[in-house]
Amino acid sequence: MDTRIIEEKFKSLFGDNYMVYTSPGRVNLIGEHTDYNGGFVFPGAIDKGIYAAINPNGTDKVRAYSADYNEQVEFGMNEDDAPKESWARYIFGVCREMKKRGFEPKGFDTVFVGDVPLGAGMSSSAALESTFANALNEIFNLNIDRFELARIGQSTEHNYCGVKCGIMDQFASVFGKKGHLMRLNCATMEFEYFPFNPEGYKVVLLDTVVKHELASSAYNKRRESCENACAHIKARHPEVNFLSDATMAMLEEVKSEISEEDYKRAVYVIGEKQRVLDVCDALEKGDYETVGDRMFGTHYGMSKEYEVSCEELDFLNDVAKQCGVTGSRVMGGGFGGCTINLVKEELYDGFIATAKKEYLAKFNREPKVYDVVISDGARRIK
Ligand code: GLA
Repeated sequence: MDTRIIEEKFKSLFGDNYMVYTSPGRVNLIGEHTDYNGGFVFPGAIDKGIYAAINPNGTDKVRAYSADYNEQVEFGMNEDDAPKESWARYIFGVCREMKKRGFEPKGFDTVFVGDVPLGAGMSSSAALESTFANALNEIFNLNIDRFELARIGQSTEHNYCGVKCGIMDQFASVFGKKGHLMRLNCATMEFEYFPFNPEGYKVVLLDTVVKHELASSAYNKRRESCENACAHIKARHPEVNFLSDATMAMLEEVKSEISEEDYKRAVYVIGEKQRVLDVCDALEKGDYETVGDRMFGTHYGMSKEYEVSCEELDFLNDVAKQCGVTGSRVMGGGFGGCTINLVKEELYDGFIATAKKEYLAKFNREPKVYDVVISDGARRIK
């Protein structure tokens, strides 16, 4: 990304002194809706992110300009000073969450831009939160550790943006490492970097360009179902702290106590735990066929049990299957956005051409195509 656009704008609005920070969006190979259930996730940071020129301004106000929206907003750091613009609430939330934890960011000027497609399931919002969490931490010498930076982003999402998300996106955006995926245990926050270079395969995202209304309330509802199923299991098995700790047999014991809907959600989560473990084993052996098989399994679960897919995503998943793609599934929270596809190099061109043609014929527009490049996490670039 050429950052001149934000640098020139910053100079014209606020002067010549600034630094430039960036944080990326993410992909996730497998382990979806497992983070808030204490399970494993397998994300990596991507080469698309948010870029911000930023400088302290010696006041207690924030002056922020979004180059994507061509909008400038000024706000303070107290609850009464909250901005109305939804993009600015992410920045405000980060400041507030720092303050709640006893850190004291001061006023600053900023101009920012992004190239993570919005609403495509690549976590543009986590990229925004992490960019500012990391930048404020550095420019005001707050000494916040990187796990806490991720949690500040997550709490921003909970308390200022209405999504009761897990930790995966902010974690990936902060901790990303070029060429590596990360396997994170969301119950303990232990993680490992996995070199990811599937020789002979490509990883590609197909964006349905569908963004569903009410995605955040549907997301929160899924989380409630999981917590409810977990509470019932815990009443019989006190050692179960998260739904991912439970087995299918434990779930069967409480089946008659919970709604059919909550039961289906829990079946998905417990199944997903095993799929992630299978993928870990398979990756160690370089067995990408098993990786792909489990990805299709996740898609089925997300579509039929967790019910966070949609017609367009299911369609692209079917096309992938017909084209002999190794693995394909809806990525991220769901309700629109992308499929992530693991495809043999020799099948790549044919797959993309067929997916474009068939999607256009059915939905009257082409899906967008993004080749995945696994990149570094939150950092200063200038
Ligand atoms: C969204 C949330 C994450 C995670 C995924 C689904 O991206 O922000 O915390 O729950 O959905 O895996």
